[in-house]
Amino acid sequence: PSFGTNVTGTGDSLDKRMAANETDETLTNRQGHPVKDNQNVRTVGNRGPTTLENYDFLEKVSHFDRERIPERVVHGRGAGAHGYFESYGKVGDKDISEYTRAKVFTNTDVKTPVFVRFSTVIHGTHSPETLRDPRGFAVKFYTEDGNWDLVGNNLKIFFIRDPLKFPDMVHAFKPDPVTNRQSMERFFDFVSQSPEATHMITFLFSPWGIPANYRNMQGSGVHAYKWVNEQGKGVLVKYHWEPVQGIKNLTQDEADAVQADNFNHATQDLYEAIEKGDFPEWELYVQIMEDGEHTELDFDPLDPTKLWYKDQFPWHKVGKMVLNKNPENYFAEVEQAAFGTGVLVDGLDFSDDKLLQGRTFSYSDTQRHRVGANYLQLPINAPKKRVATNQRDGQMAYHVDSPPSNNPHINYEPSVIGGLKEAGKTGKEHTPHVSGELKGEAIDRPNNFGQAGETFRRLAEWEKEELISNLSGALADVHSAVREQMIKNVTEADADYGKRLSEAIKKERDSMEEKSSEAVEEASERSQPSDPY
Ligand code: HEM
Repeated sequence: PSFGTNVTGTGDSLDKRMAANETDETLTNRQGHPVKDNQNVRTVGNRGPTTLENYDFLEKVSHFDRERIPERVVHGRGAGAHGYFESYGKVGDKDISEYTRAKVFTNTDVKTPVFVRFSTVIHGTHSPETLRDPRGFAVKFYTEDGNWDLVGNNLKIFFIRDPLKFPDMVHAFKPDPVTNRQSMERFFDFVSQSPEATHMITFLFSPWGIPANYRNMQGSGVHAYKWVNEQGKGVLVKYHWEPVQGIKNLTQDEADAVQADNFNHATQDLYEAIEKGDFPEWELYVQIMEDGEHTELDFDPLDPTKLWYKDQFPWHKVGKMVLNKNPENYFAEVEQAAFGTGVLVDGLDFSDDKLLQGRTFSYSDTQRHRVGANYLQLPINAPKKRVATNQRDGQMAYHVDSPPSNNPHINYEPSVIGGLKEAGKTGKEHTPHVSGELKGEAIDRPNNFGQAGETFRRLAEWEKEELISNLSGALADVHSAVREQMIKNVTEADADYGKRLSEAIKKERDSMEEKSSEAVEEASERSQPSDPY
């Protein structure tokens, strides 16, 4: 074959010519030089010193030195899989096009390819998958109109509603900057001063805070988004994923037992199920609300700390996702995958949820740093359709996004002598009217405790017991001001919740002195290790 240039972005068309002494298995360096000896560095004599012209060694070790990219600032630990999504084309008995013109939903003949990354949030890339933490549930739909990312979690609500608070929240939840250990005092210091988090904490410290694995957990877009139809009419919409495999959560004791044996159990479970053809499935449900402030509700429909209760806003089943293929390379596909809430297609839109809008800046910003300026040219992130932009160059630019065939010199627009042209608008635009004073102010209907109390009351008794036990365990040893504020917050949510927590904390504190680190004591009673050195 002649020398080719790789224009597909997949690496497939790289020239495969071989030197005379090569076979398919011959190791080469990245310059295409066959590696003659991969066991011995070049040295003066066979005892060294080594010399600096050792190109193969320098190339190998310097690439190795750069193997890590920055880990995600949150959601560092994850597992991914490929699959497809099929729309049922209906919302109840209505055609889905009454609500949205997005082809991923209106076109029921296609199986839209998807890539999903599940994750835990707070701890790093190789942390245990048994920790109490929300789980990420991020789906990239490679639709015929370009990519759509639905970047959700397993729980249906979030800790906070204002994006300005997110970096502080994450700092409080991540390990202490001095001791490098997560501290419940710092965690609850933030949470107790952010009363809107009471609802999320109620879920998180119940068994819902430790899903048994990824296949048996739900997913949710959390925010209200919008669907826009052909007439430009928008409705508010919330998305939820239901696992066809059923839902399973772990108690703290069950999670401890799993962790003692295996801290990668969720990654293993997903991978092995797919390898043996037991493909996990989720059905997608939506809840729909007319756009507007809905002053009849005791909460703001754009508030991501709130549920839209099913009896008022029914769940409509709109499609199904099947995961049927494991990644071939974890780093290329899972680690470099980049999802963002700004990645929407025609017929899907944002709502005015402040948290959602804050997120929309943050994702692509961090990805330009974490993966690089050309992260969208990587196969896992690139749409599975034509891409033709006037964006050029930058670190690791791999190819030109479809240079205009009429004139490759024109990488700007407008032009009369060639180049790419705008597509023009499709469908009537959704043009909500917004006006008001520009200000930094909390929303009018925070209702920080109402749904938290309702969620407590809706838990089964064993889940309530777990919640109280987990919360009291975490709060027993924190600063008294933090503890008292937490008791006050949950009492506001539900008097029984508060009473049970307060009593459990007292009991826990009374028994704390007796509980010293028994395992370490036992170990120190054993004879000392030998000295094989
Ligand atoms: C990951 C920011 C709230 C779900 C991330 C990342 C950032 C971030 C910077 C790392 C992305 C990357 O490196 O590729 C924020 C900010 C938030 C926020 C600023 C609030 C203002 C949320 C909420 C959810 C969520 C409410 C759930 C609905 C996720 C998920 C990932 C993630 C699932 C991992 C995506 C993946 O698997 O690559 N977030 N986040 N985040 N976030 Fe958020």
